[in-house]
Amino acid sequence: MTPELHPPGDKSITHRALLIGAMAHGTSTVEHPLTALDARSMAGALRRLGAEVSPLRGDAVRVRGVGRRFREPGRALHLGNSGTAVRLLLGAVAGCDITVRLTGDASLRRRPMRRVTEPLRTMGLTILDAHNDGLPVTVRGGALTDFRYTSPVASAQLKSALLLAGLSGRVAVTVTEPFRSRDHTERLLRALGIDVAVRGTTVTLDHEGAIPSFSTRVPGDPSSAAFLIGAAALTRRPVRVRGVGLNPLRIEYLGILTRMGVTITANQQDEWLGEPVGTLTVGSGELRGTEVAAGEIPGVIDEIPLLAVLAARAEGETVFRGAGELRVKESDRLALIARNLRTIGTEAEVVGDDLVVRGAQKPLHGVVETGWDHRIAMAFAVLGAARGVRVQLSERESPAVSYPTFFADLSHTLGHD
Ligand code: S3P
Repeated sequence: MTPELHPPGDKSITHRALLIGAMAHGTSTVEHPLTALDARSMAGALRRLGAEVSPLRGDAVRVRGVGRRFREPGRALHLGNSGTAVRLLLGAVAGCDITVRLTGDASLRRRPMRRVTEPLRTMGLTILDAHNDGLPVTVRGGALTDFRYTSPVASAQLKSALLLAGLSGRVAVTVTEPFRSRDHTERLLRALGIDVAVRGTTVTLDHEGAIPSFSTRVPGDPSSAAFLIGAAALTRRPVRVRGVGLNPLRIEYLGILTRMGVTITANQQDEWLGEPVGTLTVGSGELRGTEVAAGEIPGVIDEIPLLAVLAARAEGETVFRGAGELRVKESDRLALIARNLRTIGTEAEVVGDDLVVRGAQKPLHGVVETGWDHRIAMAFAVLGAARGVRVQLSERESPAVSYPTFFADLSHTLGHD
């Protein structure tokens, strides 16, 4: 029988639903939120900023908003491993007359923040104390000005931070990106009746009125589902993933998997606050290498670790062009993917910003250093399920950041239960 899986709530949508619920007037209900560590970091920060957020459980969470009037937290907000939480919050507090210090774990403290704080500073945010490009950072919000920004990177975190700053400070914001990044903020705001105009890669928000409370349900995370789909493809098993988000900007990896020889059908069944949701059915096929162009990278940014391990078992070479953004994720993913693949016996190299993987069917084995990066750990756990591959992960705790039931769901996909 085809195993059926229900991935946990989408991380990006959970962050936005909690945060926008906290900026709204009244009480919002969010069903099926992600309850993993990253979402807990966001919920904890919002409580410290004055919102009432019920305990984060898998069935539903209730958020009583402060109507954009965040209160000054007594001590620093600690966002753990979550880059999305810290960057979105920087934007959301920018229009409030409060001082906020933000920090995180060692990985988050190393990640670039200037890409967000610099444009926010131009809007009117005061940076009181910064640690080079990283965290901790202390900011003071206040009156903001209308803002137009052309971003050098396609980053949904950056775009969303600026849109949320516009919302927070009741000013008009226009952001243009080199390529379109995921659009969950735009979809959620639009579903609430807030005017967000999208033209090509340019987004404009201009909203002075109240933010209404809402009820929604969070689709399953397609980036979490990707690991199960990858495991099914590697082991030539069918799998069905139900209740998964089908936002086109999040499932571009399906197109790449199709190019690599995997058969996948997507069936939309519903739409929850602007987000399409449905079922993915995966059949098996012979894996072959492909070339992923630079323009495709933003659409598959979180799935590259998984695609790269599949490439290790594909016929021929796979190249990911212009994947430099991977260097500033939870780890330097570009380097870690290549180094771990080489450690276990796959030919892989980083050439400039390109990642090249040469697939082969020979036995692979060794210890994988995850760098405490959840997606590196999950990708190599998936590779370990392939015939002729034996890998030992340096740790198995990091998946709790985004996918606490990952190892159980992987076993289910592989028919081990
Ligand atoms: C996210 C955007 C992406 C992605 C991250 C979640 C978001 O980061 O890698 O996991 O929810 O906006 P960038 O915006 O830095 O590309």
